[in-house]
Amino acid sequence: MYILRTKEEVNYNLQILPKSNKTIGLVPTMGALHQGHLELVKIAKQNSAYVVVSIFINPTQFNNQEDFEKYPKTLDKDLELLHKSGVDYLFMPDTVEIYPSRPTLSIDFGHLDKILEGSFRPGHFNGVGIVVSKLLNIVKPNIAFFGQKDLQQVAIIKRLVEDFSFDVKINVVPTVREEDGMALSSRNLRLDPESRQSARIISKALFFAKSELLAGNSWLSIRKKVNQMFESEPQAKLEYFEMVTSDSFHILDSIGNERNVSICAAAYISDIRLIDNISIFD
Ligand code: PAF
Repeated sequence: MYILRTKEEVNYNLQILPKSNKTIGLVPTMGALHQGHLELVKIAKQNSAYVVVSIFINPTQFNNQEDFEKYPKTLDKDLELLHKSGVDYLFMPDTVEIYPSRPTLSIDFGHLDKILEGSFRPGHFNGVGIVVSKLLNIVKPNIAFFGQKDLQQVAIIKRLVEDFSFDVKINVVPTVREEDGMALSSRNLRLDPESRQSARIISKALFFAKSELLAGNSWLSIRKKVNQMFESEPQAKLEYFEMVTSDSFHILDSIGNERNVSICAAAYISDIRLIDNISIFD
C-alpha cells in the first residue's frame, strides 16, 4: 500500500497506471476504521482495479469544536487494517494540503440540508460537500463508495455529483451492524461499556418501528411508543426520529404509495451523538 500525502503524489501515482482496466475506486473516510469501512473497501475492490482510501478528518464539517477535537484517531490500527485489506493507495493529506486557504464558497443543498442532520448540524453538509468535491477532483475516481449509515450524506453527495457533473458513479454500501443490531460507527469508540449498552436503544427503536409499520400500525402511535422507549433509557436523549423518502428526504407521516422510505434517527448517548437509519422496503 502506497501512502500519498499530496495532490501531486496522487496525480503522479494514478496517472502512471496502465491505461487498460484502470477503474479507480475511492473510499473517503475520516479514519478510526471499523468493519463498516472494511466492507466499503471490500465492495470497492470487487468493483475497481485500484482502490484508494482517503483518511482526512475534515474540520469544515464539524459544527461542534469539541466533537472535532474528540473525534477518535486510531492511525496505527487503520494502517494495519487497510494494509491487510489489500488497499492500493492511502491518501492521507494534512489540513493545509486540502485547505491552502479557508474556503469561501458555500453550497446550498436546498431542502436537503434544512432538515434532520442539516438542521441539527448547521454547516455540516456544506463542509461535506466541499471536502468530497476536493477529494473527487484530486483522486478522479470512476466510482466512489459511501455507507448507507449516513443516508442523508448519500443524498447530499448524489446531488453534488449531479449538480456539478462530477464524472463518478456513487456506490452505496449497506450498513454493517453488531450482533445486537447497533450500527458500526467510529464514534462508537467513545462509548464506555455502560453507554454502549444504552446505545442499543437506537437500532432497537428503528427495528421496532419498521416492524410496526409493516404490520400496518400508524406512524403517530409508533412515534409515541418510541418516545416512551427513549424516556425509559436514562443515558439516551432522542434528537429526532423521522420517516422520510430515502432520496429526497421529505418527511412522511404515513407510507401511502411511497416505496422508497426510510426511518432516520439521531440521539445522544450521554454526550456522544449517534445516528442510524433503516429502510422499510428492502
Ligand atoms: O462519512 C465520512 O466519513 C465523511 O463525512 C466523509 C465522506 C469522509 C467526508 O469527510
